[in-house]
Amino acid sequence: MDTSTVAAILISLVFSVGAQAPVLSIEPRVVSVRQGESISIRCIVDGREHPFTREWKKSHSLPLADNVKVSPDGSVLTIADAQPDNQGQYRCVVFNYAGRTSGTAVLNVRYPPTVTLTPAGPLRVRVGEPVSIECRGTGRPRPTLKWKRQGSTLDLVTKATEDVNTIEWAVVRPEDSGVYACQAQNNEGMTEVKVEMTVQGGQGAPLASVAVKEITAVQGHTVTMECHASGTPKPVITWSKLRAPLPWKHTVSGSVLTVTDVGRQDSGQYICNATNTHGYSEAYVQMEVESPPYATCLPDQVRVRAGDSLRLQCLAHGSPPLSFQWRRAGRASLAPSAETTSDGRLLIAQVKVTDSGTYKCVASNHIGSSEALAKVTVKSELRVGTETTG
Ligand SMILES: *[C@@H]1O[C@H](CO)[C@@H](O)[C@H](O)[C@H]1NC(C)=O
Repeated sequence: MDTSTVAAILISLVFSVGAQAPVLSIEPRVVSVRQGESISIRCIVDGREHPFTREWKKSHSLPLADNVKVSPDGSVLTIADAQPDNQGQYRCVVFNYAGRTSGTAVLNVRYPPTVTLTPAGPLRVRVGEPVSIECRGTGRPRPTLKWKRQGSTLDLVTKATEDVNTIEWAVVRPEDSGVYACQAQNNEGMTEVKVEMTVQGGQGAPLASVAVKEITAVQGHTVTMECHASGTPKPVITWSKLRAPLPWKHTVSGSVLTVTDVGRQDSGQYICNATNTHGYSEAYVQMEVESPPYATCLPDQVRVRAGDSLRLQCLAHGSPPLSFQWRRAGRASLAPSAETTSDGRLLIAQVKVTDSGTYKCVASNHIGSSEALAKVTVKSELRVGTETTG
């Protein structure tokens, strides 16, 4: 061993026997507070027999904020009236002549959302321009963001990323004028910021509207839809159907669309389009056509042997909900062993010759009912074997 190795061993002996780096604990290590609350974090040192010093630091070497105080002996760090900026890691560093040790506490500060709109509004835009309003929310936990239109319960289509929700119009219309609100919500609260948008359309821009927005019609009836349009020059009104041509049996007279003998396939969205030199405006009518049932039996003729099982199915088209009932034509009643199901099936496990006859299915809904017949022939068992199939 050379002298330098010996010296090194001696020094390490001195430290391991005579002195130790301090041992510390942090209390609490992770803490979450509401904005405005106060919190203390302790840095407790073991091994008081050796003199030591204590120091607190914020992570990233940030200076301690004005509301963060350290007790004279360094054992307690207190944050009064915690603010979002106080969030972070606090490190207690302890040294004595043998070395240094540190421990960290993590502080989360929860706070209700704040919302910033860009542009802030009020907004004045021209008909036909693209418009987008960005809503940025901050808060802890991260708030959810939602756009609402004042006076409407309809959900608006918006583009959302983690902390920004944007409402957009590729082309604004006069009817988009109104007050919009962005709501940000987290466990700590809800904040709403409003923006008013006025779409300036030149005075004469068209505005289409319909008095009746939803129509439920019964198959075969006649339906009329009327559209109102304001604007100068007087707008020209056209009717169309979303993703389909207008029904074959329709007429348009001025602003009124009439569809006669409506069928289920005529259900859908109808669009009134009012156009003039300033632009156009659309209004929508949703129509549902309801129909009475149309029933059929499957099979509608059946031959079975006595003792076999009989199965009949009643099928029906028509507006739901549909209900089914099985009967026998004439005076005879269903065999006591007959089972029926709510979806229109009839089952007789072991038919008898007396079960021969005509069976009737009645399908019903709130508009009407429909009947279908099935002819059932039950052959006596005795003849089986002598008869040829057919
Ligand atoms: C309404 O009319 C305008 C202009 O004539 C047209 O660009 C637009 O596509 C029409 N809308 C529908 C639903 O037909």
